[in-house]
Amino acid sequence: MKKKAMNLKKMLLAVLIMLPGFALAAGGETPIPLDAMEPNLEDQASLQRGAKTYLNYCMGCHSLKYQRYQRTADDLGIPVDLMMEHMVFDSSAQIGSLMDNTMSVDHAKQWFGSVPPDLTLYTMLKGGPEYLYTYMRVFYEDKTRPFGVNNLLFENVGMPHPLVELQGLQRKVCKQIPLLADNGGEMRDPLSGEPITSEQCGDDLLHRGFSPLELVEGTGSLTPEEYDQVIYDLANFLYYTVDPSRLDRERIGIYVLLFLAFFYVFTWLLGREYTKEFH
Ligand code: HEC
Repeated sequence: MKKKAMNLKKMLLAVLIMLPGFALAAGGETPIPLDAMEPNLEDQASLQRGAKTYLNYCMGCHSLKYQRYQRTADDLGIPVDLMMEHMVFDSSAQIGSLMDNTMSVDHAKQWFGSVPPDLTLYTMLKGGPEYLYTYMRVFYEDKTRPFGVNNLLFENVGMPHPLVELQGLQRKVCKQIPLLADNGGEMRDPLSGEPITSEQCGDDLLHRGFSPLELVEGTGSLTPEEYDQVIYDLANFLYYTVDPSRLDRERIGIYVLLFLAFFYVFTWLLGREYTKEFH
């Protein structure tokens, strides 16, 4: 008996020690810090714009096969006829179909060297909506790659930059940044008080919290703020697909709590009636 208890204790201890490891594996360590974004499922306009971008620019390669067109239309307040006319590009698909695509695994491997993952749940697995929000904003020009681009978050990625016309081309550059003094503050010229800078590139910039990327002027049709909004909406939409019933659940949860509060009053009154007889 005692031995069993000891074994159980050891197992519990092992699980406790391993837990942080599991957490890291699930959240994943990323080569660059993820940019913050707060998804907002109440913002239907944002979800609609995100769905439009997804269906226009991503669906050709990435399916969304745990989600149906009908459910998306209903949840996002898109009339079915508009959805079928403007957002469903697969002529064999009906409104009740799963949002699948027809790219075969063999073709994908041949074209890209890897298979585009289904994105219904994928980005959540990789690190949440922040992952996609960052990933789609850190493509940069790299002539050594087959599609001419690389990605800071996913080195040597097999995916072309599908939104390069909107964002424009980013290049890796070196930047003049302030040197740090021994006390951790910025090093300044004792006479002029101006910060003393030095030229840093790549990872050195990243370590100091500066982006090593710079947009080539005039290559994109959107301003950086407009592009960030497009990607915010896209990440918001993919966050919605992870758990489409989240909003319903939260709404129903409030009614359940209200009901329980109401029910408690009657239960208490009934309890009082019952206990009266004991006194
Ligand atoms: C031309 C095909 C193509 C298009 C269009 C495309 N992708 Fe991809 N995508 C790929 C391929 C191929 C991979 C796998 C890359 C690899 O494993 O090297 C990928 C991988 C990804 C990943 C996974 C990255 C990771 O860290 O594992 C995400 C996220 C992603 N794509 C998002 C998108 C979004 C969002 C869009 C639309 C704006 C999009 N993709 C459009 C081909 C495409």
